[in-house]
Amino acid sequence: MNILILGSGGREHALAWAALQNPKCDKLIVAPGNAGIAMIADCAALDIEDGGAVVTFAEENSIDFVIVGPEAPLAAGVADRLRDAGLLVFGPSAEAAKLEASKSFTKEICDAAGAPTAAYGHFTDADSAKAYVQAQGAPIVVKADGLAAGKGVIIAETVPEAEAAIDDMFGGAFGGAGAEVVIEEFMQGEEASFFVLCDGTDVLPIGTAQDHKRVGEGDTGPNTGGMGAYSPAPVMTDAVTQKAMDEIIKPTMAEMAKRGTPFQGILFAGLMIENGQPRLVEYNVRFGDPECQVLMMRLGAQAMDLMHACAEGRLADARVNWADDHAMTVVLAATGYPGSYDKGSVIGGLDGLPEDSFQMMFHAGTTEADGKITATGGRVLNATARGTTLQEARDRAYAMVDRVDWPDGFCRRDIGWRAL
Ligand code: AMP
Ligand code: GLY
Repeated sequence: MNILILGSGGREHALAWAALQNPKCDKLIVAPGNAGIAMIADCAALDIEDGGAVVTFAEENSIDFVIVGPEAPLAAGVADRLRDAGLLVFGPSAEAAKLEASKSFTKEICDAAGAPTAAYGHFTDADSAKAYVQAQGAPIVVKADGLAAGKGVIIAETVPEAEAAIDDMFGGAFGGAGAEVVIEEFMQGEEASFFVLCDGTDVLPIGTAQDHKRVGEGDTGPNTGGMGAYSPAPVMTDAVTQKAMDEIIKPTMAEMAKRGTPFQGILFAGLMIENGQPRLVEYNVRFGDPECQVLMMRLGAQAMDLMHACAEGRLADARVNWADDHAMTVVLAATGYPGSYDKGSVIGGLDGLPEDSFQMMFHAGTTEADGKITATGGRVLNATARGTTLQEARDRAYAMVDRVDWPDGFCRRDIGWRAL
C-alpha cells in the first residue's frame, strides 16, 4: 500500500512512524513533512489545503491511501476532493469537520443528540452576548465560533473580563472566526481526551490521554498547543468511558448520519469529568498533537490497519489489541513560546538517540540544512516513550530530553505529575 500523510508536525511524524511499523506499507510520502520525518520517509512540498493539488499529487504518485493530519485541510474540503476522485482517505468531509470548525454547530448537534455539555448561548452581536453574560454571571467561558488555532477560548473570571473578550471577538481579534460567539457555563472537573474511530456507522475507541495545556510547571501560565501528554488517562475509568460512548459519542455520530453528513475519521472528544459524569468540552476532527504521539507509541503497527479499516467502513469487524502499557511525550519548545520566539537555532545531541518501539524523538518544527537540525517553530521536538508503568515511560522520555543540546529551548519537567 502506498500511503500519503498530510501535515508537518509531531503528530504526522508519529503517524508516519506507526505506518512504517506495518509491513503493508510499501511506500510512504509525507507532505510537507519536517526534518525528523525526512529521516524515515520521503517528504514533498505541497499546499495541503489545495484539494486539487493534493488529488493531482496522489494520482501522480500512485497513492492508495491518504491520511489527513491537521484540521485546516479537512475544513477546506480536501477529504471531499480526494473521495470525489475515487481515492481512499482517512478524515471527515468538510460538512462533518464542522464538529471542530464551528462551536455553535457542535452545540446544536449536542442539543439534538441529547449529549451532556455546558449550557450555552450563541450570539452574532456584542449587545446580546453581554446581556447573556450579565444574566449568567462569572466565571463564564467566551469562545470564537470558528477555527482560531486553539486561541479562541477565554475563561473569564469576572463579568467585565467576559465583556472585554466579547468586544475583542466582535472587534475582529480572531478574524472571521470571531464573527459569531458562543458563551458557555464554566465546567468544573478533570479534563481528558478521548479518541474514537468512526466510519460513519460504527465506532471504535482507540485510547485516552491527558495533556498539559499551560506553558508553566504546575499547570500555570498561558495556554499552549500542549506541552506534553500521557496515555492512558486515569480519570477515564471503564465506567466513565462507557458513559462517554453511550451518552456523547454514539448519539453524536447517529445525529451526523441522520443529517446525511456521516463522520468518518478520528473523533477527538475533549471531556470534562466531574463525579464520574463526562460532559463534552469540544470535538476535534483529527488526532491531538501531542496526544497522537503517545497513542501511536502504544498502538504501533496496528494503528495503520485500524485507520485503513475506518476509511473502508470496516470498523464493525475491527478490534484493538490493548497492551497494558503507558506512554508519555514531553514537548521541547523554543524559549519564548507561546509568545514570540526566535527561529533558526541549532539543535544538537539528536544523533545516536536510542530510537525503537519504546522511545522515539518525534520532530515538530524542525528543518535540516548542511547536516544541522534547526528549530523552525514554537513546539519543536517531542520526546516520546512507552513503559510498563507511567514512571518508566517518564524516565525514558526525560532521559532523551537530557541528551538534547539546545540552549534556546525548554520543556516542562513535570509532565504527568497528576497521574504520578
Ligand atoms: P476548547 O478549545 O474549546 O477545547 O477550549 C480550550 C480549553 O478551555 C479546554 O481544554 C478547557 O480547558 C477550557 N474550556 C473550554 N470550555 C470550557 C468550559 N465550558 N468550562 C471549563 N473549561 C473550559
Ligand atoms: N493538544 C490539543 C490539540 O491537539 O488540540
